[in-house]
Amino acid sequence: MAIKKLQIGIIGTGNIARAHMWAYMSQKDAQVVALADIVPGRAEAFAKKYGLRNARCYPDHLSLLEAEKGLDAVSVCTYNAAHMECAVAALEHGINVLLEKPFSVTLEEAAAICKAEKASGKILSIGFQPRFDANMQNIKKIVESGKLGKVYYIQTGGGRRRGIPGSTFIAKDTGGIGALGDIGCYSLDMVLNAIGYPKPLTVTGYTSDFFGKDPKYYKEYARFEVDDFAAAFVRLEGDIILDFRISWAMHPDSPGDTILFGTDGALRIPATDCWNGSVGGPMRLYYDSKLGHKTSRFLVLRTNLFKGSLWNQKIGSFLDAVKNGKPSPIPSWQILRNQAIIDGINRSAAQGREVEIEMPEI
Ligand SMILES: NC(=O)c1ccc[n+]([C@@H]2O[C@H](COP(=O)([O-])OP(=O)(O)OC[C@H]3O[C@@H](n4cnc5c(N)ncnc54)[C@H](O)[C@@H]3O)[C@@H](O)[C@H]2O)c1
Repeated sequence: MAIKKLQIGIIGTGNIARAHMWAYMSQKDAQVVALADIVPGRAEAFAKKYGLRNARCYPDHLSLLEAEKGLDAVSVCTYNAAHMECAVAALEHGINVLLEKPFSVTLEEAAAICKAEKASGKILSIGFQPRFDANMQNIKKIVESGKLGKVYYIQTGGGRRRGIPGSTFIAKDTGGIGALGDIGCYSLDMVLNAIGYPKPLTVTGYTSDFFGKDPKYYKEYARFEVDDFAAAFVRLEGDIILDFRISWAMHPDSPGDTILFGTDGALRIPATDCWNGSVGGPMRLYYDSKLGHKTSRFLVLRTNLFKGSLWNQKIGSFLDAVKNGKPSPIPSWQILRNQAIIDGINRSAAQGREVEIEMPEI
């Protein structure tokens, strides 16, 4: 008997929509049937490229949502500044949403998406595929095992010596935020997810754009309107300090490893050369042995191959939740806190002082 496939739409058929498309093609119970993009002809070209002969193409998200009454879910793959508008509209049309990271540009936008999710009763998952990395999952397991004791201080972040993207990432009205939103959200998620996403309370933040605006380092400098570096000191509920830095371009090769400091142990997570949310080498666990001797051991890097790619797991877990009424694999209440920190860093940087983070009522 033929199984009824989940009917999927993709809103925004730019770069990352391709990764969604490949992952949907690898799922036996889903079918991409509708595409929308505001650039004329882009959705049609995408349909042609992937041999989607029967896919319906639309000139924007609203015309797709109005016309497609039988959709089960959409991937929102627009640039950051259009996340809120597209995700809210899809949820208001009663459609489950897989929304690309970062959640949005501001905390206010993220709250609007959460409210629409709540009112709709539909599933909203945010696209943090590093969550499915076996090494990332090991970080969370180690924290939850109690081996580190109480985690009281975390340094995290990542970066690239030269890695400013182009296209829609660098303009205010499309990307909205720079390195902070693009790759900063991954660094925050890596450690906040491990410690259970405590509420952020206050933040002292800093952002700069020295490289993006300098013709010496970046050829599209005249168009550059966002941050290329951000740093922050964040207080979290439970008396935990988060020391964070992220960079699209800088002179050192890395802003440092991620380290979780606990009362009984510590975990060092090596940085990568090109930070994109992965573990850069064998992690190291520090603790005192029974005899009170300082010791440490390296943890073997784990592989994800037996479960398929991170992207297949990101899309597969979302579809599983939609089909079987399971909870969202990457729930909005967590990423709302991630966005609250990003928003707090921007506010603090603009005001030049520490700011409070008030979590919105959803
Ligand atoms: N998860 C990941 O690994 C990963 C990697 C890269 C990018 N991303 C995220 O994916 C998103 C898109 O990035 P990209 O590189 O594909 O950008 P892009 O600019 O290449 O594509 C975005 C597309 O959305 C379209 N669009 C904008 N508003 C629309 C609307 N209202 N209706 C329909 N289409 C609309 C644009 O015309 C464009 O074609 C960003 O939020 C980015 O942060 C995620």
